[in-house]
Amino acid sequence: MSTEARVEGAGTDLLGAPPVWPASATVAPGGDLTIGGVSLSALADRFGTPVYVLDEQEVRDRARAWRRALPDAEVAYAAKAFLCRAVVDWIREEGLGLDVCSAGELELAVTHGFDADRIVLHGNAKSPEDLRAALRFGVGRIVIDSDCEIARLAAQVTGPKPQRVMVRVLPGIEAGAHKKIRTGAEGQKFGLSIAAGDAEDAVARTLGQPHLQLVGIHCHLGSQIATPEPYGAAVHRLIAFLARLRERYGVTLPELDIGGGFAVAYRPGDPAPTAAAYGQLISRQLTTSCAEFRYPTPRLTVEPGRSLLAPAGVALYRVLAVKRSGGQVFVAVDGGMSDNPRPALYGARYTVRLVGRPVSAPMRTTTVVGRHCEAGDVLAEDVELPEDVRPGDVLAVPASGAYHLSMASGYNLVGRPPVTAVREGRARLLVRRETFEDHRRRDVGL
Ligand code: LLP
Repeated sequence: MSTEARVEGAGTDLLGAPPVWPASATVAPGGDLTIGGVSLSALADRFGTPVYVLDEQEVRDRARAWRRALPDAEVAYAAKAFLCRAVVDWIREEGLGLDVCSAGELELAVTHGFDADRIVLHGNAKSPEDLRAALRFGVGRIVIDSDCEIARLAAQVTGPKPQRVMVRVLPGIEAGAHKKIRTGAEGQKFGLSIAAGDAEDAVARTLGQPHLQLVGIHCHLGSQIATPEPYGAAVHRLIAFLARLRERYGVTLPELDIGGGFAVAYRPGDPAPTAAAYGQLISRQLTTSCAEFRYPTPRLTVEPGRSLLAPAGVALYRVLAVKRSGGQVFVAVDGGMSDNPRPALYGARYTVRLVGRPVSAPMRTTTVVGRHCEAGDVLAEDVELPEDVRPGDVLAVPASGAYHLSMASGYNLVGRPPVTAVREGRARLLVRRETFEDHRRRDVGL
């Protein structure tokens, strides 16, 4: 009989709750947790802490789930969630495209062999370098996000072939977990408003540029959108808009990109529809809207970022201090807001688990804080940890694979943590720890 047990909240459990831990997570004898067949406490010992662990198979399975959910669509992974060369390989091998928003993300992918034609470049303020890199590498699509970039981009196209572009439109739909990550409604910096006529003006102007080939429209509603319905509403508005463009300009644009934003569970019980659930509603709405407006079904693109990477990642920290203050118990660890700014930025909530030793003490409500010099450096509020948690213990935070390290900072010069990958019982280093030497090397003035 196996001595291992599945972890609550791992995979799609019997209750149908969305996964918090990677599907491979098991509780090993002695209270340890394994991911991809590798003990988390062994990983903490081998690579030091803080350390991020990515379950390669989980990323691949999630990529496959998206392809199955929308078999006729282009699934372009949003690199901003997290990118390194191994992730580029996984995404390419699973047959996905890529969404990038800087020359840096673009160059990392293309110089590691990613087909530039399968890349979409975004950005509300693309730098001259971003555009130069996009044209030099020959990215498949550039998404126009302001009127003033149309002529600027067109002037830079020197080759015989026009650059394929899309126009990012604002459908006027409010969705997303936090105001800072809602991008589908009026009154924020992204997109061109359909309602105010800006989107149509940009389309007209783009159509007048012989060096640009307008292939479709794009929108991104926001992030951590926990129901499929807003995507249905967006598809309907965008097909209506495409039909209007056909009527006014005689063009039938063949592509529709509805962005990313699909939610994941950070804590057990958080709503997080499956790729299949999002896909079903999107496909159904596409069919009915195209029938309603007699519009030929455009080629669809979706751009999931978080839903591919977040649930595959686990952050490991070591406890440095435990103290009581104002009736609360604070457990301080060796990372914090420099490797995970999400709680401070969006009020994001996480779950935490002690790993690596048996737990017999009763649980109590605890606040896990980081090591940085700010009271707001809180990693996880009101989590249940054993009463005897002590310095040296290893804490694991699931759902850490997206928007942690890609948003990590150099605050307090603690150095950004390494990234490791686990698969079939083996671990390897993907990105090494940032060291004091790295800081010193950049510091070139006297
Ligand atoms: N496409 C576009 C154009 C985007 O701007 C984004 C995310 C995505 C796709 C991918 O969205 P996802 O599927 O990952 O939600 N730092 C925030 C999230 C910012 C998202 C920015 N744009 C967070 O940690 O919640």
